[in-house]
Amino acid sequence: MAKTKGIDQIIYLDHAATSWPKPEVVKDAMIQAMDTAGANPGRGSHQMAVEASKVLFNTRRAIAKLFGIHNPNDIVLTSNTTMSLNLAIKGILKTGDHVITTMMEHNSVRRPLEYLRSLGQIEVDYLPLTDDGLIEIDRLEKTIRSNTKLVVVSHSSNLLGSILPLQEIGAVTRKHQIPLLVDAAQSAGIIPIEVEEMGIDLLAFPGHKGLLGPQGTGGLYISPALNVEPLLHGGTGSQSESIAQPTVRPDRFESGTPNTIGYAGLRAGIEQVLSLTLDHIYKHEWSLSQYLIEGLEEISGVHILGPGKGKPRSGLVSFYTETMDSAELAFRLDREYGIAVRSGYHCAPLAHESAGTLERGAVRASFGVNSTEAEISALLAAVHNLANRS
Ligand SMILES: Cc1ncc(COP(=O)(O)O)c(C=O)c1O
Repeated sequence: MAKTKGIDQIIYLDHAATSWPKPEVVKDAMIQAMDTAGANPGRGSHQMAVEASKVLFNTRRAIAKLFGIHNPNDIVLTSNTTMSLNLAIKGILKTGDHVITTMMEHNSVRRPLEYLRSLGQIEVDYLPLTDDGLIEIDRLEKTIRSNTKLVVVSHSSNLLGSILPLQEIGAVTRKHQIPLLVDAAQSAGIIPIEVEEMGIDLLAFPGHKGLLGPQGTGGLYISPALNVEPLLHGGTGSQSESIAQPTVRPDRFESGTPNTIGYAGLRAGIEQVLSLTLDHIYKHEWSLSQYLIEGLEEISGVHILGPGKGKPRSGLVSFYTETMDSAELAFRLDREYGIAVRSGYHCAPLAHESAGTLERGAVRASFGVNSTEAEISALLAAVHNLANRS
């Protein structure tokens, strides 16, 4: 009999979509910013406008520290990874350009690329995935053409959890002087990223997943060597006498009143991540994924996607059962057991095609810094019951 669970009884295993609950320090920082820095940053010189500008600057500084970025002004604050990816893709590509990407990509990469292709402006090649959800570096190099103007890769698959070797990919793109755009939606705050060391020219990341900030926050690092067109034109509070969009960063890319309160929370989230350390977070989430994989392997009729036991992967595990449709399994986990997971195609149909799950979809459980083995045990017991009941 389905029972509705109270919010305090929910086992939340959907951190790959957005992390929850947010740390107390994030909520406190947002309330404080609302009370003391609630003016419009960069517009006006009164005290509270200056405080609001400081919030944005300090958030940029925290992001720069996390990703090894030299100049915080090369970081554009956005609403989410999708906006960052759109800015990077549409801001860099011109008619006649060729792009290389992978079968792993989320629709937030695929759709803007396919949109530009549908207008007849660009050509796109998708690199296939190996059984472990990786790409062949040789194949990347062989796919490069004289008009290849961008390589876009996800750092970690939101379906498979596999982790691409950015250092090796960056070595190839640097050798051929092609900008490398990395989608760090599933790795920021979990797997170390050093943009300058890894040869990353554009890094799109969410504030609301592994960085523990609120929804409506994200960012894009743009290498100072790149000339990128803005996605939005409008008021920036700077060079107001000119009809042209300012050239100075980050104003060039940040038109309109920003989510100052959200970025105050994002800064607190990043500081929490830095104090926990990425090493601790990765090991914690990896050990939970191993625990879940081991338990799922014991349940007959369950198939697990992505890298096998013992291999590197980000904090998520996708699987399906032979006996119950993935959407129904996820629905019953929620309604009967209060366990929140994601089912369906995870906005990554090409990754499902590679995994052979385009017809049936999969259930994805994803972990956060506070997820526990007890929660995974509860998930395993519930999957065991449901898979054997149907
Ligand atoms: C790999 C990947 N890219 C992009 C996105 C889009 O992220 P956002 O919701 O921050 O726009 C997601 C969201 O889950 C994702 O997993």
